[in-house]
Amino acid sequence: MVKPCVVVVGPPGSGKSTVGPLLAAELGVPFRDTDDDIVARTGRSIADIFATDGEPAFRELEEAVVAEALAEHDGVLSVGGGAVLAAATQERLKGHPVVFLKVGFATGVQRVGLSTARPLLAGVNPRATYRSLLEARLPVYRAVATIEVDTDDRTPEEIVSAIATRL
Ligand code: S3P
Repeated sequence: MVKPCVVVVGPPGSGKSTVGPLLAAELGVPFRDTDDDIVARTGRSIADIFATDGEPAFRELEEAVVAEALAEHDGVLSVGGGAVLAAATQERLKGHPVVFLKVGFATGVQRVGLSTARPLLAGVNPRATYRSLLEARLPVYRAVATIEVDTDDRTPEEIVSAIATRL
């Protein structure tokens, strides 16, 4: 059992959905992902929620889903890249080990592929949007994190062992 749960944060392309399950396996605990929770609960894709209901509605739903997962999950929890922007979520993270997966612009662009599946990056200039998202969010990730790990030029397994030795 790992309670309070270990929370994995970072921008799109930082590797949360790859590293999160591997970290859980390494620790022998369950893995949960709040984007998956949102899709399961609504029966809709995140892109559809953004397009139909708008970002504020998505953020409201996300905050509630993250709060529920933080309260009940025993193990490793990955949260959507923008979840930590909510002040209430930042408060709720206190007392949790929070792992920030850091990624540079070039590696992040390669990993996300800037596909339209990510609504925030589906605009006219996705590269510029991604660059400013990385810059604007860096201080927020740093403020909530208890462990920061560089993910550029490292395999998922190397990242997991870097985290596991610091937990
Ligand atoms: C978002 C990241 C996405 C998803 C939504 C919004 C963000 O999750 O929650 O598209 O604001 O950065 P990933 O970080 O898993 O891509």
